[in-house]
Amino acid sequence: MSLTTDFTPRASWARRVTLCRCGASKNKPFCDGEHAAIGFQAGPAAAAK
Ligand code: FES
Repeated sequence: MSLTTDFTPRASWARRVTLCRCGASKNKPFCDGEHAAIGFQAGPAAAAK
């Protein structure tokens, strides 16, 4: 017995998106990598400052 399905995941479901946490993205609400240019830090590194 074989299992078959007509379910095909949409491409948008497979795409990974990341939300901007630094506020500098030019494509809000999504991260566009600008955080690296501004030196944004989060988590323990930011809390230690
Ligand atoms: S987290 Fe803001 S641009 Fe990446």
